[in-house]
This record gives sequence, C-alpha cells and structure tokens, in this order.
Amino acid sequence: MDSGLFGMTAVVSAPLAGNSAKTLSVAPMLDWTDRHCRYFLRLICPSCVLYTEMIHTSALVLGKSPERYLAFTAAEQPLVLQLGGDDPEAMARAAILARDYGYTGVNLNVGCPSTRVQRGNFGACLMLTPALVREIIDALAGSGLPVSVKHRLGLDRQEDYGQLADFVAQVAAGSCRHFVVHARNAWLRGLSPAANRTIPPLRWDWVARLKEDFPGLRFELNGGLDTVPKVEAQWSRVDGVMIGRAAYHRPLFLTELELALGRRQAPARRAEVFAALLAYTEDWGAALPAPRLTRHLHGFFFGEPGANAWRQFLGCARPDQSAAQFFRENSARLAQFGLTLA
Ligand SMILES: Cc1cc2nc3c(=O)[nH]c(=O)nc-3n(C[C@H](O)[C@H](O)[C@H](O)COP(=O)(O)O)c2cc1C
Repeated sequence: MDSGLFGMTAVVSAPLAGNSAKTLSVAPMLDWTDRHCRYFLRLICPSCVLYTEMIHTSALVLGKSPERYLAFTAAEQPLVLQLGGDDPEAMARAAILARDYGYTGVNLNVGCPSTRVQRGNFGACLMLTPALVREIIDALAGSGLPVSVKHRLGLDRQEDYGQLADFVAQVAAGSCRHFVVHARNAWLRGLSPAANRTIPPLRWDWVARLKEDFPGLRFELNGGLDTVPKVEAQWSRVDGVMIGRAAYHRPLFLTELELALGRRQAPARRAEVFAALLAYTEDWGAALPAPRLTRHLHGFFFGEPGANAWRQFLGCARPDQSAAQFFRENSARLAQFGLTLA
C-alpha cells in the first residue's frame, strides 16, 4: 500500500528519544490524525514525527482486530503510537504489538481530560499518580521501543511548578527520558475537552524551565504554537515542538515551519503533494471511500482565494465512490485549483 513520496523521503530523519536532534511533531488528535490524514501531512512535511490518535490498550490486546487500529503506510514513519490506559500489563502487550508493527515509538496519554477517560482512570487524571505513570512507562519500555509521555502542567486550578517538576522527577526515575508537555493545566471538572484546549492559561515558560531544571531529559513543547514567530521564539528553549490544530486546519503551515527552521530548502508545492496523494488513492482503490480522505483536506487551500470553493468541492465527495474515482471524475474542477491528474 506504500505509494512512495516522489523522492521526498530523503529528507525524513528519525529524531526521537536518544537522538539529540530537535523534533517537529504533529500532535495525536482523536478522529483527526488517522492514517489517511497522516499520509497527507507526511507529503507536506517530510521531517516531522507523526503520532496516531490515542488508542486504548484494551482495543489492542482484547479486541479481535488490532490491525484495524495499528496498520499504517511505511511513508508515515517516523510514527509514534499513542496509548491510553492504566494497566501496565496491557501496556506492555500493546507496546510489543507496536514494535512488531514497526512503530517508531510509543507515547502514553496523560493529558486527556474527558469525563469518559476519567471514568476509565487514564488520561490527565494519571498526573495524580506519577508512580503508576512510571510503572506504565517502564512496561512500555520493555518492548525496546523509545517511550515518551504526553502530559499537562497540572490539574484544575492548581498552578504549581513544584508539583509539575515533582511529577517529571518521579516519572524520570524510571525509563522515561522524553516528555511532551501540553503547556496548560487540564481542568477535570466543568470544561469540555475542547474548552480544555483554550481556557486554562498557556505557560510555555514552565516547559523551558523544566528543560533548565532537567537538562538530561527531552522536553517537547505543545499548545498554541500556531505561527512561525511563536515557534521560532520557543525553538531554542526546548528539544522540540508539537503542533496540533494548526497542522490540521492549515497543513501548509508545516512546510512554512520546516522552511523557517532550516529543515528544507523549498516549500512543499500543492501540485506535487496532490500528485502523490492521487497515487496513494489509486493504490487504495475501492477500499478508500472518498469522504474518508477528503474530510482531512479542507485546509489545503487555507488562506487562498479558492479556499471556500475547494471546501465546497470536497463536500461533493460521496461515500459510494472511491477517493481515486472522485478525483478522476472531477478533473475539470481540479484544474481550477491548479491540480492535474497527470
Ligand atoms: C480533535 C482533537 C483531538 C485530540 N486528541 C488527542 C489525543 O488523542 N491524544 C492527545 O494526547 N491529545 C489529543 N488532543 C490534544 C492535542 O494533541 C494537543 O495537545 C492540543 O490540541 C494542543 O495543541 P495545539 O494548540 O497545537 O492544538 C486532541 C486535540 C484535538 C483538537
């Protein structure tokens, strides 16, 4: 199923834990960063580390078809599997599956504040139990894969750098050397997950301070990094940055970032990205219904005069046609956007 990257793979490195290179990552986003979205983002951003959506360990170790959750296209690498759960034994088994599928690393979700996730005792509420987080990370590390944790600054209205540093110290007493920090608290009561991504105040300085206090650990900064100047200002203070919503809504932002950070010489061109995506849809054929891909392409012309027309065009994709068919049948409309079927 791997349709290649038209020569773009040469730029891909594997900058994960243990490697001192700085990382540019795209955040795990449930319902958004599925494999088709990731493939599209990879075409735009050859140097970034991609993350899966969070997958609960029980779906992998108890479910009948882990393949459904774990399958990916080789070009998506470096690709990290994000896991949710609180059972070290299930984590260990899930990480072995991840290793066998060829993932680049595994990451533990300690940031999701949803009530469903709280009821399952995982996500952000694990910040209350650093010893358990350490145990889980150690279980993941048994697979031999690089491990990391994605967490918040703290919980609810309690803003306390000392507690955050204590969390990091306790987790780092085990195998974890890589911390991805969504630089705001998670409020477990009274805020939806979406509001939890905007209302609790961002404190990027705390992540830079963690780097100063724990120079031997890797800290990746996440949260609100939605312009090139914001990223440039933080880049030297941490070991990497992770971009979430901006990467999804404005995917070409990633190529701007790669350029600004000196990770590529020329920007990704829409026509080339589209040509590679078209090849991907043809590899998939009927197994890829058009809306499963087109729903991730809405931001492809973000900020351009044709952005609305592009979204309207994508809205015409029908579930009973494949993505390849949809594009093939609409060559005239694609031409209006400077895209060809070549
Ligand atoms: C639709 C959506 C789904 C998300 N799902 C996850 C998830 O599965 N795991 C996770 O750790 N964070 C998840 N997040 C949080 C993001 O990874 C990220 O931490 C957050 O959006 C802040 O980064 P940003 O300001 O760059 O978007 C999600 C965010 C969004 C918008």
